[in-house]
Amino acid sequence: MTTSVDRDALSARYHRFAVREASGRSPLYEQLTLGVSQDAEVLGLIASLPQPKQQPNLLLAAYRHLFGVPASYSEFRQALVDRFDAVRAIMLDRSTQTNEPGRCAVLLPVLSGLPQPLALLEVGASAGLCLFPDRYGYDYPSRSLRPPAQDQPHPVFPCRAGADVELPDRLPQIVWRAGLDLNPLDAGDPDEAAWLETLVWPEQQGRRDRLRLALDTVAEERPRIVEGDLLGPKFEALCRQAPQDATLVVFHTAVLAYVPSHDDRMRFATLVSSLADVWICNEAPGVMPHFGVSPAEAPAQGAFLLSVNAQAAAWTDPHGAWIEPVGH
Ligand SMILES: C[S@@+](CC[C@H](N)C(=O)[O-])C[C@H]1O[C@@H](n2cnc3c(N)ncnc32)[C@H](O)[C@@H]1O
Repeated sequence: MTTSVDRDALSARYHRFAVREASGRSPLYEQLTLGVSQDAEVLGLIASLPQPKQQPNLLLAAYRHLFGVPASYSEFRQALVDRFDAVRAIMLDRSTQTNEPGRCAVLLPVLSGLPQPLALLEVGASAGLCLFPDRYGYDYPSRSLRPPAQDQPHPVFPCRAGADVELPDRLPQIVWRAGLDLNPLDAGDPDEAAWLETLVWPEQQGRRDRLRLALDTVAEERPRIVEGDLLGPKFEALCRQAPQDATLVVFHTAVLAYVPSHDDRMRFATLVSSLADVWICNEAPGVMPHFGVSPAEAPAQGAFLLSVNAQAAAWTDPHGAWIEPVGH
C-alpha cells in the first residue's frame, strides 16, 4: 500500500529529474517527468513498484521499449494508465544499465599517459563498451585520434577539453581486459542491444548512432564480463588474473551511485587501492566525499568527478562530451 508521503517523495524525485537532469538535454523527458510529478494517478502506479525500480529513467525507457516515443504527455499517461501491467513487467525485469562508450573520451587522457601496456578491468561494465578505448576514434579541440584501420566502421567521439587538459597523443596499448557486473549484458544479443539503445534519450540521435557502432565493434570482440558484485570475491580474483607485466587499471564510471551504502563505497575504495596499480573513478562527486571536492564546485549541473588514485583530476560531462581540470 502506498501513502501520500510516498507519493510526495516520488513527485519530488520526478520533479528533480526534470529540472536537474532532463532540462537542457531532453525537452521531451523534461515535459514527461514534470507531468508525472503533478499526476497523482500515475504517481500511485509508480509508487506500487519496489523503491529501486521507481527511477524516472527506467520508467521512460520501459515505456519507449513498448510503445515508442510519445508525442505528448497525454499520450504517454494514457498508455501508462491503460497498460501499466506491461510497463511494470519491463521495469521489474530490466535495469538502467546505460553503457556510454563516449566516456572513453574522458578516460583516454589518463590511460594514454600511463606506462604501457595496460590491463583494463572495468567494474560495473554493463556490456563492456568502455573496455575498448583503443578501438574508437576521438575528436578533441586540437587533436584527433583514430584506431588503426579496421574492417568495420568505428564510432568517433567528440570531446571538448579545457586548454589545460593534457590531451592524449596516442591510443593506449591494451593487452588484457575484463569486466565485472551484477548483470553482464551481451553487445551481440539483439534484445539487450536494443534495450541499451532505448536507454539513450530520444533527442540524442548522434549518441545513439555512436552507440550502435560501438555495439557492433564490441559484439565482434566478445569481451569477458564476469557476473559478480564489486565487493564480492570475484573482483579480487579478476585483479589477480591480470598479467604481471602490464599496468593494472581498475576503473568505473556511473556505477557507485548504485551502491547505496557509504560504508560499502569506502570499503571498495580501500580494496581497489590495495589491488590496482591505477584506480580511475569517474562518478558523481558525492559518492566519494573523502576526495575532498564538493559537488558545489562542479562547472555544470550533474558533472562527474574524474579521480586517479583517489586524487581529484578533472570534471567531466556524464556522457563524455567534455573534460575540464579541477580547480579551473
Ligand atoms: C549506469 S551503468 C554504467 C555502465 C558503464 N560503466 C558505463 O559507464 O557505460 C552501471 C552498471 O553498474 C552495474 N552495477 C551496479 N552495482 C554494481 C555492483 N555492486 N557490482 C557490480 N556491478 C554493479 C550495473 O549492473 C550496471 O551495468
